[in-house]
Amino acid sequence: MMRRKLVAGNWKMHGGLTQNAGLLDAVRDGMASMPDVDCAVCVPFPYLAQAQQKLSGSNVKWGAQDVHQSDKGAFTGEVSAAMLRDFGCSYVIVGHSERRAYYGESSHLVAEKFMAAQKAGLTPILCVGETLEQREGGVTEAIVAEQLDALIQLAGVQALRNAVVAYEPVWAIGTGKTATSAQAQEVHTFIRRRVASHDGQIASGLCILYGGSVKANNAAELFAMPDIDGGLIGGAALVADEFLAICRAGQI
Ligand code: PGA
Repeated sequence: MMRRKLVAGNWKMHGGLTQNAGLLDAVRDGMASMPDVDCAVCVPFPYLAQAQQKLSGSNVKWGAQDVHQSDKGAFTGEVSAAMLRDFGCSYVIVGHSERRAYYGESSHLVAEKFMAAQKAGLTPILCVGETLEQREGGVTEAIVAEQLDALIQLAGVQALRNAVVAYEPVWAIGTGKTATSAQAQEVHTFIRRRVASHDGQIASGLCILYGGSVKANNAAELFAMPDIDGGLIGGAALVADEFLAICRAGQI
């Protein structure tokens, strides 16, 4: 099955109003001539209004990097999915490995965040992936399975109908060490098969991104793999030309 590619930027805690303005303009203008690839940028919360203002009416969507699992309440410092919708978000990343590692987010909590996002009409991007130690210990599949199964148990496989999964091996994030296309394809196949064991149709339509040091010079090879449906891009999403080159690789 030929799935349309999605290239999503994850800006993390970078940028500022001035810097973002140039980046958003350049991405919006560059994407105008690439109707065959889906593109989104996930920006820090304070810049959602700026992203909305710059990207409305273009073919670049925007989103956030985290969301709270509750609809509303006394949760100082947190942001709900409905608030993200207020700023026109289409996507939200849940369960990024930095959230799991530094803020102790469990797979169960991530599944709750996923459901809150979906309930509000957002498309969640569920991140899964193993550490280097786990890969070397031969438990990559067990780790990815646990992260995926937590969602399927809580929400049912139907939840994956309007969702994106991003396989991001922790050892490849921000390290310049990309998984080889074969290594990534192997885990992507595993994810798709696991979903297929519940529902074949949902599995074959599922958008599975690869993330971890994707650059302009390795994107085409990764995106050529049959189960890699695009990328979640960190560092390279902060440089317009580099990010647009990755998007261009998604046109194949
Ligand atoms: P990277 O980050 O592209 O800088 O490795 C990817 C991510 O964390 O989503």
